[in-house]
Order: sequence, then C-alpha cells, then structure tokens
Amino acid sequence: MAEKKLPTSNYKGTRDFYPEDMVFRNWMFSRMREVVESFGYREYDGPILESIDLFKAKSGQEIVEKQLYDFVDKGDRHVTIRPEMTPTLARMVAAKVRDLPKPIRWFSIPNLWRYEAPGHGRLREHWQLNVDIFGVNSLRAEFEILQLAASILYAFGAKSTDFRIQFSHRRILSDFLQKSLGLPADKEQAVAKILDKKSKITREEFLSLLREVLDNPETQIPLIDRYLESDLTSLTQFPEISPEVIAEMQNFYREMEAVGHSDNLDFDPSIIRGFDYYTGFIFEIFDTDPKNKRSLYGGGRYDNLIGLFSNDQLSGIGFGLGDVTLQNFLETHNLIPEFNRDDSVYIPLLSDSVFLDLVQLTTELRSSGITVETSLDVQKMGKQIQNAEKKGFRYLLIFGEDERNEGKVLLKDLKQSSQKPLNREKLAEELKRELGI
Ligand code: HAM
Repeated sequence: MAEKKLPTSNYKGTRDFYPEDMVFRNWMFSRMREVVESFGYREYDGPILESIDLFKAKSGQEIVEKQLYDFVDKGDRHVTIRPEMTPTLARMVAAKVRDLPKPIRWFSIPNLWRYEAPGHGRLREHWQLNVDIFGVNSLRAEFEILQLAASILYAFGAKSTDFRIQFSHRRILSDFLQKSLGLPADKEQAVAKILDKKSKITREEFLSLLREVLDNPETQIPLIDRYLESDLTSLTQFPEISPEVIAEMQNFYREMEAVGHSDNLDFDPSIIRGFDYYTGFIFEIFDTDPKNKRSLYGGGRYDNLIGLFSNDQLSGIGFGLGDVTLQNFLETHNLIPEFNRDDSVYIPLLSDSVFLDLVQLTTELRSSGITVETSLDVQKMGKQIQNAEKKGFRYLLIFGEDERNEGKVLLKDLKQSSQKPLNREKLAEELKRELGI
C-alpha cells in the first residue's frame, strides 16, 4: 500500500512566509523600526512562553477563557503561548524598575497567538508592533504615542484621510457605567462588552443583548444612546462623569489639533478596549476604507501593571499595531512598492575551469557590499538565464574563459536585453555605479 503523505497545508489561522513574503514582511518591519527608533525607542523581546498567571491577572476574561494556547509542561507548570506582549513587558520593566532610566521608551515586534475564528484582518498567529512609554504621568505621553502612531502610517505614504484615530478614557466610561447607569460591579463589564460590539452588530441585536443584562432597560437604554452619541462638549451634560477628565480630554484634543491631527481625530465613547489593565486614556486607529473594519492599532494607559510584580508604581501607555491589519491597509491604499532584486547580480557558471576565479571575484564583490548569487553547476547559458529570471534577477555577470583572458566581465541587463563590458580590475567600483548602489 502506498505510504500516506503528510499535508503541506499550514495550521489554521497561520501563514507560511515564503521568501517573497519575507521580503514584504522585512520591509514593513524595518520601516516601523526606523520611525520608532527615530523617537528614541529601543527594541526588547521576551519569551514566547509565559506562566498563565501573567495573563490571568489583568488581560481580561475573553483572552484567558477562550483565546489562550495553554498547556501544562512536563514539570507541571501551567504555561501559555503569549497572546499579547503587554504583561511580558510589564514583568520585564518591573524586574529592573529601579535601575532603568525614565522615561522608559521600548518597542518590540513579537508574534502572538490567540485561538480566534480566523477572518479578514484576524488570524491565530500575528505579529504586532508594541510601543510603550513608562514613567510619564502627564498627557504628553499620550500625545507622543499618537504622534508616533500616525508617523508610522505617514512613513508608509498614507494620507491623513486614510485613517481615523478614535479615543476615549476609561474613567469616563466607568463613571458613566457606575454612576450614570448605576450598574453594579458585576454588570459593568458585561455592558461594556456590548457597547464594544455595537458597530459589529445590528441595532436589534444590540438592544436585545442590553435587555438581557440591564435591570431597567426602559430608562437605561436611552441614556446609553445619548452617551454613545456624545462629543466632548455634550458629555458635560452627564453630571456624574468627572468634569476634570472631560476637561483634560478637551485640552488634549486642542493640543493634537494644534499639531495637525484635527481632521482625523475623534473622541469616541464607544471605544472600550477589551483588556482589564487600562485605567486612563484608550484609543484605536481605523482604516477609513469600510472594507477593513478591524482596528489597525489599539492601546491605552495602564497605571497598575507594574504593581502586580513589585511595590513600585510606574504608569505606562502604549499600543499594538498588527501586521495583518496593516498589510490590508497598505494593500487597500496602494502603498506597497514593487520589490525587485535590481541591486544584486547573478553569475552563471559557464565552465568548470573558471570556478575558482569566480570564487575570488564574488568574494571581492561581496566584501564591497554587493549581493551576488552564483550558479554551482555548469549549464547551458539559455537555461541559466531562464533560471536567473525566474529568481527575479535583472542583472547577470558573464565571466567565462574568454572574459578571463581579456580581463573583463560582461554585465547583462535582462530587462533592457543589453550587455556592457566592465573592467575586471575595477569590477566592484564599476558595478556599483551601474547598479546605483
Ligand atoms: P489589541 O487591541 O488586542 O491590543 O491588539 C492590537 C492590534 O493588534 C489590533 O488593533 C490588531 O491590529 C492586531 N491584532 C490583535 N489581534 C489580532 C489577531 N487575532 N489577528 C490579527 N491582528 C490582530 C493589545 O494586544 C495590547 N496589548 C496593545 C497594547 C500595547 N496596549 C498597550 N500597549
């Protein structure tokens, strides 16, 4: 009986990154790195596996009960693959909190795992740029974080009309839920979750979910509607919501306006954020194209995460930017360049007798910073050209016995169907000029 072959398909909700996919991913990540590093942030990383306790403490019910890839290891420790980076970051900062110069500005691009139903903009494994700042209590940190978040999109060539920054504040939300609606603590989260879902469900579904939870839906639903329609001015009509926090948010909005963010910045009371650790400012950034409904960025301020690990207090604020949603955004707005190999060369092997000369030649070229791929088998020229083309090369260097004897190398341009002799002695210099590097 024939042996049953294993499938070549990958695990549901994950991606295989073939070399051309890696070119795109590396390009995306290096552009992110450039922007984030230009603000002084430094890169960190942590283990992909953590104790489950780290997430049980503050990540929130949905992540812990439904989305973890957790298991008990051979030493009886209950561990999980990280579903997000913030708890790992808080743990690492807490471990050295007294020694680290403040403010701490760190970033990372971890891969994260969540057991979710895969769909447009949502997978089970994704990469997420995390940028966080610790040790700034004023809204200047929020200001910098949003400036930075927008700068990343601008660095990819986005326009201000391509995305919207929507923000709120946990204190505004909790004052409304606890004081205006008078919800007991156990119902607060349930209602917050329904508000969070509002834009993804119909009005009927929204109302029926609320009726299931609320004790006095007749009076409470109109209040919820009014709350969700509020802006920072009309919000002051809720006397229970802290006027100081509203004023802070108004001031914040004015400052953001002053640096040019007025046309794509909204106060949006329906921004809830699913994690329990947020205590202050919260925000999400969305693509304005209705095709891409999932948020590009999500983030906010968390005052007490360090307190899980030590008696020190240090407030942090930051965001996560997902690679799946960013890719959708870049595709939708035509912001992905064509990637090519026009700055490197392929060298076919034309006879065994020139192999060692070629090794010397390629060593010289590589040490002057030129990327060179060589053929290791002698094959007919036509076949080698075909192969080089398939690999995406535009330039070939031809170096056979004739060229060796004449002290030259031919540069073949497959795109222009042309060729040009280069001086063997000055090859690296001349080739760099030709390739524009
Ligand atoms: P989050 O809202 O869960 O926040 O994720 C941030 C972003 O990561 C989302 O806006 C989305 O772009 C992307 N993302 C999340 N889950 C998935 C998924 N299953 N598939 C594809 N993309 C996804 C956090 O994780 C916070 N820890 C962020 C943070 C950092 N807050 C403060 N500092």
